[in-house]
Amino acid sequence: MKPEAPSNSPVGQSGEAEFLGDPISPISGGRVPRHVAIIMDGNGRWATQRGLPRVAGHRAGTENIRRVIERFADHGVKYLTLYAFSTENWQRPQPEVRALIRLLHFFIRRELANLHKNNVRLQMLGHLETLPDWLQRRVQSAIELTSGNTGLVLNICFSYGGRDDIVMAVRRVIEEEIPASELTEEVLARNLSTGTMPDPDLVIRTAGDLRISNFLLWQAAYAELYFTDAFWPDFGREDIDIALAEYGRRKRKFGGLLPEDIEAFKTP
Ligand code: FPP
Repeated sequence: MKPEAPSNSPVGQSGEAEFLGDPISPISGGRVPRHVAIIMDGNGRWATQRGLPRVAGHRAGTENIRRVIERFADHGVKYLTLYAFSTENWQRPQPEVRALIRLLHFFIRRELANLHKNNVRLQMLGHLETLPDWLQRRVQSAIELTSGNTGLVLNICFSYGGRDDIVMAVRRVIEEEIPASELTEEVLARNLSTGTMPDPDLVIRTAGDLRISNFLLWQAAYAELYFTDAFWPDFGREDIDIALAEYGRRKRKFGGLLPEDIEAFKTP
């Protein structure tokens, strides 16, 4: 696992020194994103193609999470944020909603020991109070168990929405009685659910749709976007390597100019 590196976000949230480069991956030999966020789409289509109920796709998608964590950790990615259930997903048929909630429990039951052994720190983003009490307690104890781990930080977004995240941050700012004149981007960012983390460098969406779907709206302002046709249960090591290679080729400017572009403006 790589040592902690400073944020490459233009808006520093961690108070660390800032730079505009990325850590170097010992595996890929190139730049790797510090924070990867994923919209895990296509479970339903994966199942339908196999003549299975949609829930079987969600289960296969849940089982896929382990190999995805391992691959990103091997590449030196420090934060991995997975969109498991959006604030809008409550509109799905009740049996599917219940199945997704059960899968959160299944994931913790099946993976917690392995996550802990591998020094992964588990965090949840979103409205955990919407979960049944027993599951809230289960989630909370998993978070506490892994809270001292120093390896990859795994954020599971459940009942999460990007707009809601911003509204909640504004509420906290109001509750803290921060004067309007002192409200800055840094202050708002600190009050988001991701307040202590760097912004995502790379947002991946599987299954072919070209949408952000209310995911990390504020935080993804300068993320590189990567879309793949692979359905989430099929998104494996090779797909990850391809996505990271593509990221390594992107020129990130954060609205500024690259040194070579500045050079081109210089008069001889
Ligand atoms: C989108 O597929 C996927 C979701 C709404 C849920 C993603 C959830 C998981 C991968 C499993 C849950 C994991 C945990 C840890 C709780 P879709 O159903 O919209 O697929 P479709 O677009 O093909 O219909």
